[in-house]
Amino acid sequence: MQLYPGIEVGPGGELLVGGLKALDLARTFGTPLYVYVEDAIRWKAREYLKELRRISVPADVAYASKAYLSLRMARVAGEEGLWLDVASAGEFFLATKAGFPPERILFHGNNKSPEELKMAIKNGVGRIVADSLAEIKRIQEIASALGRTQAVLIRVAPGIDPHTHKALATGRIDSKFGIPVYRGAHIEAVRLALKMKNVRFMGFHCHVGSQIFERRWFELAGKTMGAIYEDCLKAAGVFPEECDMGGGLGVAYVPEDKELSIGEYCEALVGSFRDRLSNLGLPMPRIFIEPGRSIVAQAGITLYKVGTIKRLPSGQKLLAVDGGMADNPRPMLYSAKYRCLLARQAREGQLSYRVVGKNCEEGDTLIEEAFLPMVRTGDILAVMVTGAYHYSMSSNYNALPRPGVVHVYEGRAFPVVRRQTYRDLLDEQIEGTDRLALASNMGQF
Ligand SMILES: Cc1ncc(COP(=O)(O)O)c(C=O)c1O
Repeated sequence: MQLYPGIEVGPGGELLVGGLKALDLARTFGTPLYVYVEDAIRWKAREYLKELRRISVPADVAYASKAYLSLRMARVAGEEGLWLDVASAGEFFLATKAGFPPERILFHGNNKSPEELKMAIKNGVGRIVADSLAEIKRIQEIASALGRTQAVLIRVAPGIDPHTHKALATGRIDSKFGIPVYRGAHIEAVRLALKMKNVRFMGFHCHVGSQIFERRWFELAGKTMGAIYEDCLKAAGVFPEECDMGGGLGVAYVPEDKELSIGEYCEALVGSFRDRLSNLGLPMPRIFIEPGRSIVAQAGITLYKVGTIKRLPSGQKLLAVDGGMADNPRPMLYSAKYRCLLARQAREGQLSYRVVGKNCEEGDTLIEEAFLPMVRTGDILAVMVTGAYHYSMSSNYNALPRPGVVHVYEGRAFPVVRRQTYRDLLDEQIEGTDRLALASNMGQF
């Protein structure tokens, strides 16, 4: 029985990941462990490209690497013909170290430092998504000093609240991201960019939010962007060549979540933009979309080993695993819900358990109520749909070493990020407080 692409229940009831037994992966690579079915990631990437071709729009898919980035993942994105969206110089650095072509990278961020901008421009970044008027000026200064002309998209906050978690709604007029579409501020930004000799204005960018399940918000985003393009032509006298419409497709973490298909998403977001422009007799710019979560979320699971099992005075059974909020902060951040299965017997059972982590916080609950067969200490528990914003958001809280990452591709498992060791924790510490030691340690920054 297939649970997600590449993740299924085998004939003996065991959990299979990319055709391999989850139990074997835990035994070989240890726990906690992030495991990805790489075939499933590639399949999603192709699905996006196919759906965009189907609606006959010139378009590129820029994978939002904040969802999950490793050298291997950057290579997968490159091989599948995607662009990459990065949100910091660190992500840019990792991506280019993986050999990802810088000219296919879009650089985001609401507060890029001058050093980050310089690094990106110097290394030939494809587009910078400018977040403010001040940043447009900063790009001009840096590009001019480097003797370059930089292609720039202007991020707008179009005033759309897509009714997702407050922390994931980025399209509202008072968002920390972008230039609000309010009293012509976005047109002022275009005029400014057009005046800058070393800035090439390519178009607008918007990303209304993440984990969106309703079609209407994407349709509204598409139509609103259409109006902004019309506005730009009328008020600034230019019709931009490109339009970046962000990501945001919601992913089902638990069976109750009803997700849109990639085709429905593309049609709602890009199709409504296309229709709006064609009604006005305007041409279609080249489109970028930036999916992150929907490419990697369901391709990933986290394997944990069960430790302490307790019965509480309330009668509730509590099951503690060898990870927690340090490798999955989403339940704490967004009240996110998850489903888990035992690796040896991957089916729902009759027994109710609260699944908690080992971090030293009372709120470190991964799953409020999981129905499982009888669980024993030493069992391997698999939490489903942990491919997006897990490894990338993980921390060393309580000095827990970060788990390793393993990919399974074409029936073979291989590590792509090594598990941290206590040595790694020690390596970043600075010992000694005398002036000489401090001076020599400063060199490390
Ligand atoms: C600018 C931008 N683009 C794309 C994404 C990816 O969104 P998602 O992972 O929901 O597809 C994000 C996520 O926060 C974002 O901020």
